[in-house]
Amino acid sequence: MSQRTLVLLKPDAVRRGLIGEIIGRIERKAGWQITALELRALDQDTLEQHYGEHQGKPFYEPLVAFMSSGPVVALVVEGERVIEGVRALAGPTDPIAAAPGSIRGDFGTITRENLIHASDSEESAERELKIFFPGRV
Ligand code: CMP
Repeated sequence: MSQRTLVLLKPDAVRRGLIGEIIGRIERKAGWQITALELRALDQDTLEQHYGEHQGKPFYEPLVAFMSSGPVVALVVEGERVIEGVRALAGPTDPIAAAPGSIRGDFGTITRENLIHASDSEESAERELKIFFPGRV
C-alpha cells in the first residue's frame, strides 16, 4: 500500500551533521521516493500546530525550545508502507530503548533530542503534511 509521510530531521541531527546519514537510510529502502525536501527554521505557530496534542505536558515547553534551536530538514517520503517503515527505521522515542541499527539507537541518548520525527498514522501524516507543505501535497 503506497503511502506518504512527513519526516523531520530535528535540530540535533542537523547540528551533528547527520542529514546525509539519515536521508541515506531512507533513500536505500526499495521503492521509496523523497518528493519534497527543505531546510528551514520552524516558527512558534508551526510548532504549536504540529505539537498541539502535547500542549500542557511537562516536556512541551522544552520540546518547542529545542525544535526552535536551529533549522530542521522537512521531507515528504512516499512509498510502500512508508509510515510504519520510517518509524521502524527511527526506533522508539527513547533512544536508549531503541535497538542498535535504528537511527535513534545508533545516534541518540536523550529522549527530547531523538533526531527524527515521522508521522504515526495516515491521519497524522495528512494533518502534518498540510502544516509543513501547504498547497504542495
Ligand atoms: P516525537 O515522538 O517525534 O514527538 C514528540 C516529541 O516529544 C518526541 O519525539 C520527543 O522529542 C519529545 N518527547 C516525548 N516524550 C518526552 C519526554 N518524556 N521527555 C522529553 N521529551 C519527550
